[in-house]
Amino acid sequence: MKDASQCPIGVFDSGVGGLSILQALQQQLPGESFVYLADSGFAPYGERDEAFVLERARACLTLLRQHQAIKALVVACNTATALAISVLRQENPELPIFGVEPAIKPAAAASLTHKVGVLATAATLQSSKFLELLDRLQATDTEFVLQACEGLADAIEQQWQTGGNSAVLGLCRQYLAQMGAFGNAAGQIDTLVLGCTHYPFASRELQSLTGMSVRLLEPGAPVAKRVQQVLMEKGLTAQNQDGQCQLLATGETSNLQQAVSHWLNLSLPVRQV
Ligand code: DGL
Repeated sequence: MKDASQCPIGVFDSGVGGLSILQALQQQLPGESFVYLADSGFAPYGERDEAFVLERARACLTLLRQHQAIKALVVACNTATALAISVLRQENPELPIFGVEPAIKPAAAASLTHKVGVLATAATLQSSKFLELLDRLQATDTEFVLQACEGLADAIEQQWQTGGNSAVLGLCRQYLAQMGAFGNAAGQIDTLVLGCTHYPFASRELQSLTGMSVRLLEPGAPVAKRVQQVLMEKGLTAQNQDGQCQLLATGETSNLQQAVSHWLNLSLPVRQV
């Protein structure tokens, strides 16, 4: 039987957003191989209910394992982490499973105006997991301005089909305008949490609207460090191999293909599963 440490790490998201996490994983763990699954046939997740997202999270894990044995799973999606990771962990106790959560704790620590904005899907913001996280920070003197961004992940996903980023920019403008003023002065939001893995791919648009003084926080690097630490503790670090990457999608494949070549500078085939 193949040594488990030589197996790839499975990564999934509803679509291309999880590539922001994959990018950080590849930087932190260049010797590891990855299988990335975009659940494009069932995206977006952000306006769906818990039962739907849980069923898809289970299906994604099954599809990854049918494709190839994996030694760990990264749920590269805030929505699926919020709605499904506890059940996935209960059902698969032998598999190390990592998730991504909006970085509101580091944001509270970083904010000098004590006013933090959080952009995420409606499903993430309404989830009990997120509300508990928020509750634990109520004792701090930070005010959180929460903004659900319906349609933004989808616009980021579709930008190659629609021929540009004007829909992305328009939605960023609309949602940021609802949150109040951004900047360094008292009462302004000086830290913005990107609580959906698609949103780092709209950083340029967001930063152009908030101004450069506002700090954008995304979870890729801390998650990658945590994966590295746990693989080391469990003796699962890959030995003597060059990291490879395979791409799978449950629906249309061209968004993932375009996103990987554009953002990760990789030219790889996408297999439909
Ligand atoms: N990228 C996902 C997240 O982090 C999901 C976006 C969506 O499918 O709505 O929440």
